[in-house]
Amino acid sequence: MRIDKLLANVGFGSRKDVKKLLKTGVVKADGEVIKDPKIHVNPDEQHVTVNGETIDYKEFIYLLMNKPAGYLSATEDDVQKTVIDLLEMEDAVYQPFPVGRLDKDTEGLLLLTNDGQLSHQLLSPKKHVPKTYFATILGEVTEEDITAFKKGVTLDDGYVTKPAKLEILTSGSQSTIHITITEGKYHQVKRMFEAVGKKVTYLKRIAMGPIILDEEELKVGEYRELTEDEVEELRQAQPINL
Ligand code: URA
Repeated sequence: MRIDKLLANVGFGSRKDVKKLLKTGVVKADGEVIKDPKIHVNPDEQHVTVNGETIDYKEFIYLLMNKPAGYLSATEDDVQKTVIDLLEMEDAVYQPFPVGRLDKDTEGLLLLTNDGQLSHQLLSPKKHVPKTYFATILGEVTEEDITAFKKGVTLDDGYVTKPAKLEILTSGSQSTIHITITEGKYHQVKRMFEAVGKKVTYLKRIAMGPIILDEEELKVGEYRELTEDEVEELRQAQPINL
């Protein structure tokens, strides 16, 4: 890849900015100064530095975030904060985007990547991987709700949901539950509970396909890169029938 493209990709500005930077002689590949923006380097094999600092180049970035409430699952917004605002500059330069959406008030597991192919694969209706949520519900969640969610419930727009697995953790005037769904309709979990006359008062995603949120490791608002094994597991993730 051309050195100017590589440096622009990791955040050294436009190609024009990079050209100026190269002229100053601070960029080296394997110890040799590179001034010509057209020179090709192989970031997997060559050691590229700028002012002596190693450039850790990768094409794709895969992040696992514990999303806080109050942030939009979007890459930009004129008024509101987005999950991208939570990223360090060194990660933001790869221009990752959220894989699907969590509502502004929903917390929990959110993947971010710039790998459009993997994102598409995880969200496409044919391959939709299961997603599990923890929720607090106003109202008593019952065995009938479990049966209704297994069959599919009719949302406010007439859509009948695919089978979902509902597990009651505690039941009372307030209940806590786990729910696993394989679709991603707008406000899906909230609307499913509305369909059975109940209200979600707190919602947190805890798993997506093979990736499980470990809240000891990642506090709300924190994120980390996925390991290569985790990315591979996501690539291999298969749709399931609930
Ligand atoms: N279902 C919802 O209602 N909201 C979310 O953020 C995710 C699933």
